[in-house]
Amino acid sequence: MNNLITAIEELKKEKNAVILAHYYQSGDIQDIADFVGDSLALAQWAAKTDADVIVMCGVHFMGETAKILCPGKKVLVPDLEAGCSLADSCPADKFAAFVAQHPDHTVISYVNTSAAVKAVTDVVVTSTNARQIVDSFPADEKIIFGPDRNLGNYINSITGREMMLWDGACHVHEQFSVEKIVELKKENPSAEVLAHPECKSTILALADKIGSTAALLKHAVNSDKEVFIVATESGILHEMQKQCPQKTFIPAPPNDSTCACNECSFMRLNTMEKLYDCLKNETPEIIVDEAVAAKAIRPIQRMLDISETLGL
Ligand code: 13P
Ligand code: SF4
Repeated sequence: MNNLITAIEELKKEKNAVILAHYYQSGDIQDIADFVGDSLALAQWAAKTDADVIVMCGVHFMGETAKILCPGKKVLVPDLEAGCSLADSCPADKFAAFVAQHPDHTVISYVNTSAAVKAVTDVVVTSTNARQIVDSFPADEKIIFGPDRNLGNYINSITGREMMLWDGACHVHEQFSVEKIVELKKENPSAEVLAHPECKSTILALADKIGSTAALLKHAVNSDKEVFIVATESGILHEMQKQCPQKTFIPAPPNDSTCACNECSFMRLNTMEKLYDCLKNETPEIIVDEAVAAKAIRPIQRMLDISETLGL
């Protein structure tokens, strides 16, 4: 492994590359990355890097977002098959038809979508800024929110809106077991439950803190509690444990205890070996159709501009 780490470091320098990693990557990839963050931070980082090559250790839509923001740079991903079940639950042709049926609605899309879905979107959001961006529209604005029904329901519940929701979901966040979390709480009565808003409302109802991966991490660092039950992809525990070595983090269990369903099978396709190969061979590369990118850049840039104004 040490040889692999050295070889990746050397290739990175030689090619003036930057490695960006999401919190759901394996610990070794997070450790070698130049920057680890949530999906908003990865987009912000990509937009400002002066590297020639961006290696996006995450999933396909994260690579697409980086490529749309930096069309002149080479954007690589360790495994092109690293998709997203939530993005897949929103096929672009069907979403475009739905949007066309509601021409008086503003379209707000979660960043976990294909470039083609972003191309028919007015503003993109992530779980870090969804509430604030929705709140930036007048209370009577008619809004379509896609594709995550759980995040959409949650935002409706905290803003009092009735956004029209696309019926999509993430296969990891839909798997958490209410009964097992309640059981864990009984065993650890002082533990706080941290949940990502992609979880079902029954899980969110148990949570002491609901937020993006970055928000959950920040909460864990600042909380005076010692034990946390974490209802999101278990890769985030790596950075939580790193920043809070004295605290205990328990991954929330999925319904099926025989599977590793709290790991995202797409995120985990990326490995150190594939990261090395992709830097060495400069492939697989993310390519976005230019006409699609020209439309998709607008809602992404709008999100970055609003986030900057809000200090996010
Ligand atoms: P974050 O925006 O919290 O990074 O979430 C991304 C994601 O894919 C959640 O499943
Ligand atoms: Fe997509 Fe879910 Fe994986 Fe996040 S955890 S990348 S939403 S499949």
